[in-house]
Amino acid sequence: MASVARTLTRASKQASFSFTPLRRNITTATRARPTTSITASTKQTGRRSYASGGSPSGGSSKIVIPLSLGLIGAAGYYAYSNNLLASAFASAQASGLKTGGVFTPTKDDFQKVYNDVAELLENNEYDDGSYGPVVVRLGWHASGTYDKDTKTGGSNGATMRFAPESDHGANAGLKTARDLLEGIKQKHHWITYSDLWTLAAVAAIQEMGGPKIPWRPGRKDGDVSACTPDGRLPDASKDQKHIRAIFYRMGFNDQEIVALSGAHALGRCHTDRSGFDGPWTFSPTMLTNDYYKLLLEEKWSWKKWNGPKQFEDVSTKSLMMLPTDMALIKDKEFRKHVERYAKDNDLFFKDFADAFGRLLELGVPFEKEEKFIFKSTSD
Ligand code: HEM
Repeated sequence: MASVARTLTRASKQASFSFTPLRRNITTATRARPTTSITASTKQTGRRSYASGGSPSGGSSKIVIPLSLGLIGAAGYYAYSNNLLASAFASAQASGLKTGGVFTPTKDDFQKVYNDVAELLENNEYDDGSYGPVVVRLGWHASGTYDKDTKTGGSNGATMRFAPESDHGANAGLKTARDLLEGIKQKHHWITYSDLWTLAAVAAIQEMGGPKIPWRPGRKDGDVSACTPDGRLPDASKDQKHIRAIFYRMGFNDQEIVALSGAHALGRCHTDRSGFDGPWTFSPTMLTNDYYKLLLEEKWSWKKWNGPKQFEDVSTKSLMMLPTDMALIKDKEFRKHVERYAKDNDLFFKDFADAFGRLLELGVPFEKEEKFIFKSTSD
């Protein structure tokens, strides 16, 4: 009880609950440290606004030369076409294509993408000061549609770019993350959306003080025909039976389900997305094992409000738990793992890295074994 209770008391004394990382001493905290208060958090201004659909295929300018142009016209065209060639060459270079062959990105090229994602995450105008949590949720929802029996869904394809998948209720709000990453896709044309979204989720976890997540490229983008049916992602109003049905379908066991759920240390619920409201922890832009500690050590009661059934912490009424979160301590098997992770942050980080890395690879027929471990900006 001690540490969380102390933190809660300390936090509750701070005017309007400014979020501060709890007891952990992680250097990336300074990057991800939120500066906005809970009450001011629903502001979502200053967002970039890119189209979330597939990237436009590069301009296919058609050059028509009327035969009657004559010599002057031909000379003019010569100059024009040389310019055209030069600019096509420049843009091919910018997009990573090298003359004489297909561009094969190296680990350094992916690290550049990582660095660009890391650069974008912090934004004091958005939520608790970081896009990190919503980017993690994008990576998870793009991957968590996997069905091991039919081998459909998963991170291959990035089919959430298309309706109907983009309109599935569970994906509400993820356009924010897709739009944010569109700028990176435009800069690094060679990367697939499916590799980009999963790499960005890895970057977000690492930049928010979480463990290194080994990652490998190789996902290919699909088309609308590969969209998964609605209902493959978990419904937060349900119980442990539902949680198991959803995650067993992806191929995870009880321990991995609990490890993955620790991502709810990050971010918050939004009334205009899921209908639920509020953050799970006092440090929603830092990955810690506080989610498990708070689950066990706080008293939780039903929130009295005109919204979907959710829990609030009795002492400050500023934190929340979903019915599915509470199922992790009601169920004996799940609870065992909640207790292990509450006691041992290193164990949580190790198991989270394993399970999250696997989640991001669901449904991908990789050709290469080699995985990359990216440098965090704080390394
Ligand atoms: C039973 C399983 C789960 C359920 C029912 C669930 C449900 C939800 C809901 C309702 C939200 C709020 C969305 C919003 O209103 O913006 C949310 C947010 C979030 N979820 Fe989950 N989730 C589950 C598992 C996971 C897993 C496995 C991960 C990652 C490994 C994850 C990562 C996140 C993150 C980071 C957010 C915060 C997003 C933000 O701040 O915008 N969740 N989840």
